[in-house]
Amino acid sequence: KNMTIEVLLNKSETKISKYIYGQFAEHLGRGIYEGVWVGEDSEIPNDKGIRLDVVEALKNIQVPLVRWPGGLFADEYHWKDGIGPREDRKRIVNTNWGAAVENNHFGTHEFFHLLDLLGADSYINGNVGSGTVQEMQEWIEYMTFPGESPMANLRKENGRDNPWDVEFFGIGNENWGGGGHMRPEYYADLYRHYQTYVKNYNNNSIYKIACGPNIDDYNWTEQLMKIAGPFMDGLSLHHYALAAEWEDKRPATGFPEEEWFSLIESAYLMDEFITKHSTIMDKYDPEKRVGLIVDEWGTWLAVEEDTNPGFLYQQNTIRDAMIASITLNIFHRHADRVHMANIAQMINVLQAMLLTDGEKMIKTPTYHVFDMYKYHQDAQLVEAYGDTSEFVDYTISKKDNKLAVSVTNFGLENEETVKFNISGLNKANSEGWILTADQMDAHNTFEDPENVTKKGFSDFELEKGKLSVTLPPKSVVTLLIDLD
Ligand code: AHR
Repeated sequence: KNMTIEVLLNKSETKISKYIYGQFAEHLGRGIYEGVWVGEDSEIPNDKGIRLDVVEALKNIQVPLVRWPGGLFADEYHWKDGIGPREDRKRIVNTNWGAAVENNHFGTHEFFHLLDLLGADSYINGNVGSGTVQEMQEWIEYMTFPGESPMANLRKENGRDNPWDVEFFGIGNENWGGGGHMRPEYYADLYRHYQTYVKNYNNNSIYKIACGPNIDDYNWTEQLMKIAGPFMDGLSLHHYALAAEWEDKRPATGFPEEEWFSLIESAYLMDEFITKHSTIMDKYDPEKRVGLIVDEWGTWLAVEEDTNPGFLYQQNTIRDAMIASITLNIFHRHADRVHMANIAQMINVLQAMLLTDGEKMIKTPTYHVFDMYKYHQDAQLVEAYGDTSEFVDYTISKKDNKLAVSVTNFGLENEETVKFNISGLNKANSEGWILTADQMDAHNTFEDPENVTKKGFSDFELEKGKLSVTLPPKSVVTLLIDLD
């Protein structure tokens, strides 16, 4: 099929928020403990307990913010358990995730230290399911109050004089399910109540996020917008890509061809869900002031053999890379409404960027997509139109006098050539990268960490505003082109 895309270089009204590239790190399995936190006495190189190999890798993909401490864990988290001398902190049971002992060594101070090391913003998820209004109010006071107050004084006693900035705050998580099994009307009222006490101190301006729908629960969105719309800045949405039914998690490697496509098809539903939820939101918020915050997305596959099923540790292949690129493209197309997204999860859990084993760490194919896509962060989405083959997806943005073009061929058999007409583009200086593999379940292991990795790419022609890119099957390419 001849694919020619017309690129409208001067039509670029919508900004792709960098926050679409957000990460999610829950107290789940080895996501925080081992993945991020090794403790100050560890032999693994660390900065006040936070492992440095992980920090370095994450800085390279320019992580803009991290959502913490959950997930389901958030609605059981009592933040006061996680402050003060570590040896005195309460040891609790992580009831949602493998009944693991949670020693609370990673708490509020450690989280903000991680953010400092990454240069990232905070998205903290508060507890509505099993926490009180007072507890939430005090956490905000502890983190952000500058002067003298009981909670600010406690923070100072624990070694931190200055308040931190809390950019984003979630009022509960999945309150339709594990966060309290609430009806939307009830939760919407609770949302109004709790958020009243999430106050702005010290010129801090907190972006408040209400718990949004599960997948295609449109009534939830309708009720939330109707009852609580004016009190929120964002409404969350969760959708995971599955290769079969929810109850039947399919393997991350060694899967049949049909599951290559069923997983991708499930990921593509994201577009439909965003479109439909956004249409409901338009009724109450035509200005698109309230963001749709996709704060959990990614592939949910079977856990690796001999690992705790409650730890959600899965391998990550070139198929996950296809899904990362396709989903980020969807977010770009909806950037007027999708103001933030958080892939689940950052390390060792679900569709992770990094996997660790003791002192070893590997980058997953998904990591490389985030690396190749970082040029789109805070860039202007460039409009384009034209037909593509059913296996091709793409996105284009511009920033700092550079045009970033990312193209994906998620077919299994054929090479695809995609042509772009970019009138107004005179220069031809460019750089390119590709991520591809021969096997459909190609992945990295601790023995072979560079099996799937980004490489320089030159199989394209660019002359006088005409770009032609040839992609092998199972590949994603990013080109960065000088605009003048
Ligand atoms: O990401 C894993 C879990 O998935 C989260 O804790 C929860 O919010 C969702 O159901």
